Amino acid sequence: MTARGASLRSIATAAAVSCAAAGAPAVAAAERDAAVVEAGRRAYTQFCARCHGLNLAVGSSAFYDLRTFPRDDKERFVRSVTQGVRAMPAWEGIVKPEQIDAIWAYIGSVNGW
Ligand code: HEC
Repeated sequence: MTARGASLRSIATAAAVSCAAAGAPAVAAAERDAAVVEAGRRAYTQFCARCHGLNLAVGSSAFYDLRTFPRDDKERFVRSVTQGVRAMPAWEGIVKPEQIDAIWAYIGSVNGW
C-alpha cells in the first residue's frame, strides 16, 4: 500500500467516526423530541381537547383555533394557558409547566413547525 493510500484511508475512517459521533446525539434528540410531543399529545387530550378539539380546532370562533397560534410567541402561549384569557380557564396548578411545554411541542408538531 502506498503512503498516500494509507493516509486517504485514515482520513475516511476519521470522517466515518466523527459522523457516527455527530449522528448519535441527533438521534437521541429526535427520540427525546418525540417523547415530549407524545407527552404533550396526552396532556392536550386530557385538558384541552374538550374545548379546542382533537385537532386543535372545533370550527367555532368562540374557541381559539390553535392551528393559527403564532409560532414565534411561546411566551404568550405560556401566559395565556397559565393565567387564562376571558372564557379560557387558567391552568396554573392543574397543568404542570413541563406539560405546558410539551403541549406547545405537540401543537408545533401538528402545525408542522
Ligand atoms: C373550558 C374550555 C377550554 C379548555 C378546556 C381550554 N381552553 Fe383554551 N381557550 C378557550 C376559549 C374560550 C378561548 C378563547 C378565549 C378568548 O380569546 O376569548 C381559548 C383560548 C386559548 C388560547 C389563545 C390565547 C391567546 O393568547 O389568544 C390558547 C393558546 C389556548 N386556549 C390553549 C389552551 C390549552 C393549551 C388548553 C389545555 C391546557 C386549553 N386551552 C384548554 C377555552 C378552553
